[in-house]
Amino acid sequence: MSVPLFDLSRQRTQSPSLHEATKEAVLRVLDHQEFILGKEVLIFEKEVEKRCLEAILPQGETPESASPRMPQAIGTSSGTDALLALLIAKNIGAGDAVITTPYTFFATAGCIHRVGAEIIFCDIDPATYMMDPEKLRLILGNLKRETSGVLRSAHGNHVKMVMPIHLFGTCCDMDAIMAIAKEYHLMVIEDAAQVLGADYPSIHGPKKAGAIAEMSYFSFYPTKNLGAAGDAGLAVALDPEVADQVRLIRNHGMEERYYHKVVGGNFRLDAIQAAILRVRLPYIDQWNEQRRNNAAIYKNAFAKAGLLSRIHLPSEPWAASGLKNHHIYHQYVIRIVGSADQGPQAGLRETIMAHLKKKQIGYAIYYPVPLHLQECFAYLGHKKKDFIESERAALETLALPIFPELSEKEINTVVASIAEAIS
Ligand SMILES: Cc1ncc(COP(=O)(O)O)c(C=O)c1O
Repeated sequence: MSVPLFDLSRQRTQSPSLHEATKEAVLRVLDHQEFILGKEVLIFEKEVEKRCLEAILPQGETPESASPRMPQAIGTSSGTDALLALLIAKNIGAGDAVITTPYTFFATAGCIHRVGAEIIFCDIDPATYMMDPEKLRLILGNLKRETSGVLRSAHGNHVKMVMPIHLFGTCCDMDAIMAIAKEYHLMVIEDAAQVLGADYPSIHGPKKAGAIAEMSYFSFYPTKNLGAAGDAGLAVALDPEVADQVRLIRNHGMEERYYHKVVGGNFRLDAIQAAILRVRLPYIDQWNEQRRNNAAIYKNAFAKAGLLSRIHLPSEPWAASGLKNHHIYHQYVIRIVGSADQGPQAGLRETIMAHLKKKQIGYAIYYPVPLHLQECFAYLGHKKKDFIESERAALETLALPIFPELSEKEINTVVASIAEAIS
């Protein structure tokens, strides 16, 4: 039995009403012809704020009594463009430096480079694959702090921001990162591209992913847990002035047509994409739950197959919190421990991949080359072993199918095939 890594067509076959509603949404835009921004985008922004960014209140509290600050959502043409708009809004550019991790999708470091700032990499925690707060503290402790409080990189740039990335469906150790950022007066942008609907158990009370720091962004690339029918994204800002600035920047700095207050770009979310996302948004909790159920089935199957000493399953750093959405399994990434070493597991990941390919089972490596070793960043002067955990993760991890409509039988087939490859 072949198993795809993704199969977006199952949404159509298993939820015909969703497919019909999607078609109607597209037709509605074709009828009203408000193709650029307009009410579809505005309504989507409000709906996503309400469903995915509103503070999780302690029992008995109402929004009025708790008066939480509500982050504002600004629809953009992609997750990458949302980040670019946020960086421009905060005037990050030449002479500045931003800290982020090298084991992730390219967008973060790419945007820092594009605005002309210096990229400073911080290695990851090998258990979660996300920014290790201790390593962040070490980097910051080694930087020069001027009497004015300005933090200088080795190249003399002003270190202004840290950009942690919530990878694979769960959040970074944000309490630790936020505390360090506060101590060093750094701004924080959460890369929340992969965690729409996830919750984080902060010591200050549970928070929604993307509503922990003062800024964040999401991606609605078609294979994301909320996918558009093309590219789409969302910038999020807690400060209304920053939100207004991002709104300007996504539209070439225009409020009034052809009068440009600032230099921005065309980072606008299409009305057709917003209309489609509006139809799909109400399903996000259900889909996240299905992903989590699939992860539980994998866990059982790997344990039953006796593979847990050979393979590390994804870690669930916030499971003990009791928050249902502590992990939404955007990806299901296992680690074939030691497959990059000379030991008994040498080359095992490649053996497994070859077997999965033969059996027509989908898989992927997220991410095969850490960003500090990418050709385009050679100018940074990094070499192998500079960020050991990121490099090791790139050599040992393997993503398996986890999409919501995946069946138990398919999951068992994936695990049985991995067991065959190992035996
Ligand atoms: C972690 C991460 N950051 C950023 C992005 C960029 O989002 P987009 O593809 O919408 O530009 C993605 C998605 O591909 C991602 O997975």
